[in-house]
Amino acid sequence: MSKWPEFVSAAREAAFEAGKMLKQGLSEAREILFKGTIDLVTNFDRKAQEMIFDRLSRSFPEHGFLAEEGLNYQEKKDFRWIIDPLDGTTNYAHGVPIFCVSIALEFKGTIILGVVYDPMQGEMFHAVHGEGAYLGESRIHVSSEVDLGRSLVATGFPYDVRVNPDNNAIHFNSFLTRAQAIRRCGSAALDLGYVACGRFDGFWELRLHPWDVAAGGLIVREAGGRLSDFSGKELNIYRPEALATNGLIHESMIQVIRLGKEHAENKGQ
Ligand code: IPD
Ligand code: CA
Ligand code: CA
Repeated sequence: MSKWPEFVSAAREAAFEAGKMLKQGLSEAREILFKGTIDLVTNFDRKAQEMIFDRLSRSFPEHGFLAEEGLNYQEKKDFRWIIDPLDGTTNYAHGVPIFCVSIALEFKGTIILGVVYDPMQGEMFHAVHGEGAYLGESRIHVSSEVDLGRSLVATGFPYDVRVNPDNNAIHFNSFLTRAQAIRRCGSAALDLGYVACGRFDGFWELRLHPWDVAAGGLIVREAGGRLSDFSGKELNIYRPEALATNGLIHESMIQVIRLGKEHAENKGQ
C-alpha cells in the first residue's frame, strides 16, 4: 500500500482524463498560438491544464500549483503540484501522436510522486518516492546496457535553438557517432519514462523546465536509474542541465558531454 494513496489515484485520474481529452482533440481543429518564434501553445494545452487543476485543486484545496501555461500558485505551501499538461506540443500541433501529460507532487522541496501518461499508447508511468516505478501495474527497471556504443539515447532541443549557440547541436553530434542511435521524439517527460522502463538507455537535454523533468525524473530514479547535471552533480529540476541514464552508461555520457563542451570552448563558442 502506498504511503500517499489518495495523491497517487488523484494524479493518475487527472492525467488519464486530460490525456483522453487530448487524444480526442488530436483529430479536431487546433488553435495554435506562438509563445516564441518556434515555441507553440494550443487551446488543448490550456484545456488540459484547466482540467488537471480543477481535479486536483478540488481534492486538495490547500496545495500549491506550478504548471507550464501560466499557473504559479504556491505561497509557502508544503505540497505543490508541478504540471506539464501537454508535453510534446510541437508534435501535437502537427498531429504527430507522441505526447504525454506529466504531473508531479513536491513535498517540502522533494518530489514524492510522479505520473507520466501517454494516451496514444495507453501507457501510464508512475512512481512514489521510495516505492519503485511502474508502467501500468507492473514494476519497471532501467536497462542493463553498459556500453554507450550499444545504447539508444534520446534528447531534445531548447526553444532558443536558433539564437543561442549553446543549443545542444555539439552534443547531438558527439553522441551521433558514439551511441548506437539517437532519438528526438519531442516529449522530454516521455523520454524519461522510456529510460525508466529500459527502452532508452540514456537521455540528456538543456534548459528544460521543472514541469518537464519533475515526474519523469522521479520515475527514472525509482526504476533504478541515475540523474544528474552534465558534471555528475545531483539533478536539480530548477537548473538547466538534465542527464538521466540506467546508471551504467552515466559516466560515459558525462565524458562525451565534457569533450563536447571543451571542443566548443576551444572554438570560442
Ligand atoms: C518540450 C518537449 C520537448 C523538449 C523541449 C520541451 P513542451 O515541452 O518536452 O521534447 O525538447 O525542450 O520544452 O513545450 O512540448 O511542453
Ligand atoms: Ca514540456
Ligand atoms: Ca507543455
